Order: sequence, then C-alpha cells, then structure tokens
Amino acid sequence: MERLFLSNLFLFFIYRKFNKKHGQIKYMENMNKFRKPNYLINKIFLNRWSPRAMSDEEITDEELMTLFEAARWAPSSYNTQPWRFIYAKKNTENWNIFFNLLVEFNKSWAKNAAVLVCIISKKTHDLNNQPAPTHSFDAGSAWENLALQASINNIVAHGMEGFDYEKARKVLKVPNEFQVEAMFALGKPGSTENLPKELQEREKPSTRKELKEIVVEGIFSWN
Ligand SMILES: Cc1cc2nc3c(=O)[nH]c(=O)nc-3n(C[C@H](O)[C@H](O)[C@H](O)COP(=O)(O)O)c2cc1C
Repeated sequence: MERLFLSNLFLFFIYRKFNKKHGQIKYMENMNKFRKPNYLINKIFLNRWSPRAMSDEEITDEELMTLFEAARWAPSSYNTQPWRFIYAKKNTENWNIFFNLLVEFNKSWAKNAAVLVCIISKKTHDLNNQPAPTHSFDAGSAWENLALQASINNIVAHGMEGFDYEKARKVLKVPNEFQVEAMFALGKPGSTENLPKELQEREKPSTRKELKEIVVEGIFSWN
C-alpha cells in the first residue's frame, strides 16, 4: 500500500514538472477555466487552441502525414477536395523560403516550429473548369480537421495570415487557378519562456463571441 502511494506520488511530481514545461498541456488540464461553453460539446473543440510556444523538436513524417490524413477526410462541395498543402521542414533547403514569407511578428515565434505549411485551394471544379464558389470554405474545413487532429496528438498547429501572399505564390510556383489561403506552423509544444516577453503574457486560450452574435433565425439582423 505504502509502495503504491509512493509510486503515485512520484508519478504526480513527474506529471507536474512536465505540465510546467509544456504550456499546451498545462492549459488543456485547466481549459474549463478559460473556455466555458453554454451548451455541452465534445471537449476536442475546446482543447484545440493556437499556442505559439514550440520546442524546436522535429516532427516525424509519420506524425506529419497523420495530420494531412485528417485534413484529407474533410467534406467539400461535390467532393472536389480543392485543398492542397505545400510544406517545408526545419533544417531543409525549403525552410528559409517559407520562413522568409512570414511577417516579423510571426517569425518571432514560428522560428521554433518544426514545419511550415502553405494551404492553397483550387478555384475551379476539376470536371468542368467552372468556378467552385466554396473552394476556400472547403479548404477551411480541411484546416480545421488538421488542427483538431494536431491538438488530439499534442502537436501545436497555429494558423497564419501574416505572410506575403504574392511572394508565396511566386516562390512556391502556385498556378493562377489556385488561391493562396493561409499558412500554418506545426511543432512540438514548448515552454512559454521560448517566446518574446510580450507573447508570454498572451499565451493562453482565447474565448469566443456569444451565440446570439453569430446565429439568428430568419434574416440578417446584426448592426
Ligand atoms: C487563418 C488564420 C490566420 C491566422 N493568422 C495568424 C497570424 O498571422 N499570426 C498569429 O500569431 N496568429 C494567427 N492566427 C491565430 C488566431 O489568432 C487564433 O486562431 C484566434 O485568436 C483564435 O484562438 P485559438 O486558435 O487559440 O482558439 C490565425 C488563425 C487562423 C485560423
């Protein structure tokens, strides 16, 4: 009995130490302090958030492809699957090309990411070349699938619009029938101390608008 107690105590301290180091895990344990849904929803939606603290560790190809696999199963209009992902891993020749697309603010934290990804989407249907009005919407679904899977797998996924869209099209050789949608950083969770001071204070899960601000029955009725 005493041995069981001691081993549990040992595990508890290891766990606490780990929690202190990894902000993402710390917040996931206390997520209900930051995020209070009005209706009961699955906790995967609340647990997904966008940390900036990453550890500079590598992500294996298996871990990376698992995230794209989740994206792959997103729904899309006519099952067109207009999303495409172009990525660069840290310590490869492509990394600097992707990194140099980012605005300085994003560079300040994304330097500890393991992978940078650019999402593009095809603006026309494959079959008839007609405009696909929901291509961005569909690409957004794929991103959210990926972000949820990343959160489940304890990998940071942080979306970015802070980059040079025109330069991205040029250097990544994106054809005109595709739209550059966004970039995102992937990495292993890291200590908030890896972040610039001002970002350390902001490193916590955000909250949301009230339901009545985003949902209405009938016609548009917001000011
Ligand atoms: C498409 C997209 C673009 C974003 N652009 C940036 C960005 O350039 N820099 C940044 O620090 N965060 C960026 N974010 C993160 C958002 O600020 C964050 O998702 C939002 O505040 C909600 O917080 P949460 O993801 O933690 O729930 C972006 C997120 C998305 C989905």
